[in-house]
Amino acid sequence: MKHKIKKAVFPVAGRGTRFLPATKASPKEMLPVVDKPLIQYAVEEAGAAGITSMVFVTGRNKLSIPDHFDKAYELESELAAAGKTELLQMVHNIPPSSVSCVYLRQAEALGLGHAVLCAKPVVEDEPFAVILADDLIKSDGPGCVAQMTALFEQCQCSIISVMEVPKEDTGKYGIVEVEAAEDGTLRVKSIVEKPAPEEAPSNLAVVGRYVFTPRIFPMIENTVKGAGGEIQLTDAIAGLLKEETVIAYRFAGKRYDCGTKLGYLQATVEYALAHPQLKEPFLAYLQALNPTELFSE
Ligand code: UTP
Repeated sequence: MKHKIKKAVFPVAGRGTRFLPATKASPKEMLPVVDKPLIQYAVEEAGAAGITSMVFVTGRNKLSIPDHFDKAYELESELAAAGKTELLQMVHNIPPSSVSCVYLRQAEALGLGHAVLCAKPVVEDEPFAVILADDLIKSDGPGCVAQMTALFEQCQCSIISVMEVPKEDTGKYGIVEVEAAEDGTLRVKSIVEKPAPEEAPSNLAVVGRYVFTPRIFPMIENTVKGAGGEIQLTDAIAGLLKEETVIAYRFAGKRYDCGTKLGYLQATVEYALAHPQLKEPFLAYLQALNPTELFSE
């Protein structure tokens, strides 16, 4: 029987230290890009891929995430009374009614691998997606998760999304070594967390979209604390490779690292320039900025 991906796990329990002080009391996944929080982009991407069960692994200071996806009775009745139907529609459909949300708690931020393991009681024995909302991916066609779930329906194996990065940046990512298979896919031969450029097996970096078979869970359970004293997902994937095929997938789309201030600003500018109501006035504003003044000390 061929499986389909119906569940997505959203690890949102990280400390977000690269975005302090904004992340002191609220999660980085609630940072808005133009008018939507990062987590909503991620949930919409999963929903567009046919995923109906959203599993959030939350931590301290994460209450705003369940609040965002809950019904807001007071706000909705006020908008209805004021006849603001467009705004009402906008808040009413977060998330669409076809989707169910489950919230789990990661008591301590023990690493991304540990956060994914926290979802095991809900995911059970099914293949599932993992989505890191701070990696925002903009695509003209189907979203990255939809591309990956479509591939999963053919290959029925774990898939990790990858993109090329400059060699000098390998130390910021999980990096994979791949070989081309006969069917045109790239098979992962090895994976290493944040290697120095001279030790990196390639310049293909892992991005925050994964599809896993449930075999990933025992692999995480057997993973000891690695880099930074955390249970690393990369180490568990390295274990999975020894048992199962794992495909590296070069997605169509552009990824913004919204866990960093620079990546977040880049996303904000490019999403604003693609926004139907904002693009014209925002472009006019950018064009009116005086470059001589901007670049002088
Ligand atoms: P990051 O590597 O971005 O870590 O986590 P972080 O702690 O959130 O941020 P910095 O490095 O301190 O700035 C990648 C993803 O894994 C989640 C994060 O929420 C983010 O979506 N994560 C990380 C957890 O859910 N739990 C953890 O223990 C660690």
